[in-house]
Amino acid sequence: MSARINKQNILQKLNNKVEVRYFHTIDSTNNEAKRCYCDLQDSPILFVSDHQTNGRGRLGRSFYSPKNTGLYMSVLLSAPKTEDIVCITTAASVAVTKAIEKLTPLSPMIKWVNDIYVKGKKVCGILCEAVTNPISSKISAVIIGIGININTNDFPQDIKDTAGALSVNIDSSELCALITDNIIDIFQNLEQREFIAEYREHSLVIGKEITYTQNNKTETATAIDIDRNGGLIITTENGTETLSTGEISIRLRND
Ligand code: BTN
Repeated sequence: MSARINKQNILQKLNNKVEVRYFHTIDSTNNEAKRCYCDLQDSPILFVSDHQTNGRGRLGRSFYSPKNTGLYMSVLLSAPKTEDIVCITTAASVAVTKAIEKLTPLSPMIKWVNDIYVKGKKVCGILCEAVTNPISSKISAVIIGIGININTNDFPQDIKDTAGALSVNIDSSELCALITDNIIDIFQNLEQREFIAEYREHSLVIGKEITYTQNNKTETATAIDIDRNGGLIITTENGTETLSTGEISIRLRND
């Protein structure tokens, strides 16, 4: 099968405002972004591939990335202000959701923190990583890694009940360009947190009963809102608390 990503189309749609590095096959676009972080200057660099041999997900999991049926991309950007780093994952989810909504008739929803669901199945995962400057020990860049199942239909056993694909006729290059454009746009104004309203509107969990696992302990709660840093506000029998966007996995009850 021929490559689905067309670098020239992406560049054209983005008016050449980012550098695009395309790979037919790569271990992981996030890994490549990390390896190349010294190349980052004023404008972001987009790493995109038709296939990953070692796609990585949150919580140390792998991300299934078969050939030519998905979009695997990472945007390497200069780090935002320290106080805004906490919400980049939330911002990235909105960037993806808006792009899918614009280019397809689908209604994507966000399962906290950053899994995108369509018709009850996870179609997209997002892995944001910070790059620390070894000399200053400060976060100098961030990597927004996004994997979307465009028309993957043959999933491994462990995810076959939960994973799905967009399964619509869509130009992957156009989707990639629009997501990148949305990221750049939202990141220009992160401190205003305007994207939080859109995140709330697309939340799959607000108002629902959830179970969440933190430090190997599983608890039950009701999700009630998203705070300005992307934290999930929940009520439990002990009162209200906020889960921050860390190493927590949640499930909707009856999931
Ligand atoms: C998750 O669902 O846990 C997050 C998955 C993130 C996958 C994307 S695919 C592009 C980029 N490269 C990676 O290795 N991971 C991210």
